[in-house]
Amino acid sequence: MKAFFENGYFLSLLRRDIIQFKQNTMNIRPRRNRKSSVIRSMVEETKVTTADLIFPLFLLEGEKKQVEVASMPGIYRYSLDLMLKEIETCMDMGISAFDVFPVVEEHHKDKMATKSADSAFFYLKALKKIKNTFPEACIMTDVAMDPYSEDGHDGIVRDGEILNDETLKVLGEMALAQADTGIDIIGPSDMMDGRVGYIREVLDAQGYQDVSIMSYTAKYASAFYGPFRDALDSAPKSGDKKSYQMNPANRREALIEASLDMQEGADFLMVKPAMAYMDIIRLLKDHFDLPIAAYNVSGEYAMLVAAAEKGWLDYNQVMLETLLCIKRSGADVILTYFAKDFAKVTRL
Ligand code: PBG
Repeated sequence: MKAFFENGYFLSLLRRDIIQFKQNTMNIRPRRNRKSSVIRSMVEETKVTTADLIFPLFLLEGEKKQVEVASMPGIYRYSLDLMLKEIETCMDMGISAFDVFPVVEEHHKDKMATKSADSAFFYLKALKKIKNTFPEACIMTDVAMDPYSEDGHDGIVRDGEILNDETLKVLGEMALAQADTGIDIIGPSDMMDGRVGYIREVLDAQGYQDVSIMSYTAKYASAFYGPFRDALDSAPKSGDKKSYQMNPANRREALIEASLDMQEGADFLMVKPAMAYMDIIRLLKDHFDLPIAAYNVSGEYAMLVAAAEKGWLDYNQVMLETLLCIKRSGADVILTYFAKDFAKVTRL
């Protein structure tokens, strides 16, 4: 190979027709492994299956409600009765993991996110019902104050500051209340310092050693969360999340976050968003032996759907390519709003 290129190179300086001859006798032709679909499948390095995916769902209080998220066409907020039907449909299609988020009405919100740990609250009651109805499904929940907070921030706000240590106590109670419902994985998503260790300790002290923690390890302060905040009506009332979520400019800092989460007892390390952050997914994959998750977020879903609606992109093709590339970049698990459509398309 080396000799060929050296010869080719030097000969090119001399005579073009000899180069032509050299090319005709190439003994290494990568295209041979692309010549048929059977061979292409044989040598394929990455495959995505429904077993890799977690489908985020938005839960409404009440009954018989199904409301589309305006900035996420095809994604609905469901009341429990209809969500149970949706989960059943997804399970039949091979999707068995769900991340359930509550849509909390404004009158339930307060400064301390009190409803997040109230076992009589519709969300916690619904989680119990979902787990009882589908014990074989894997149910994940988010631990952060924002959906329940009148400030719309992930931590307690005092004088415009987001408090770290005071917030941990709220997170511990929230995690415990969620674990009480029987859910499988807790996802601390607020980027407070020390929360994985704190939540692990609280859970273990109450006998919940088997509840997993999927830490939002490298969660960036991203504008790609916009449609999610529309879905939950959870945008910050003032300021932004830059004092706790990571700066999109930083890569090395993700290694610090990952080391801490690993030491504190995380079972999975998550990178979020996914598409513009594939270097971070690969970085964590190469440096840590825990499973790596990637959150293919709301804005990433919205932009592909919007372009497809305009007829500018082929929805199915870009969806399959996106998930494939997120997995190739190092993700073992992908949280994605494409989950159901992926199952539909790959089942054909
Ligand atoms: C809440 C939370 C957010 C997302 C997941 N959990 C929003 C945020 O941090 O503002 C974003 C998910 C998405 O955009 O799909 N802490």
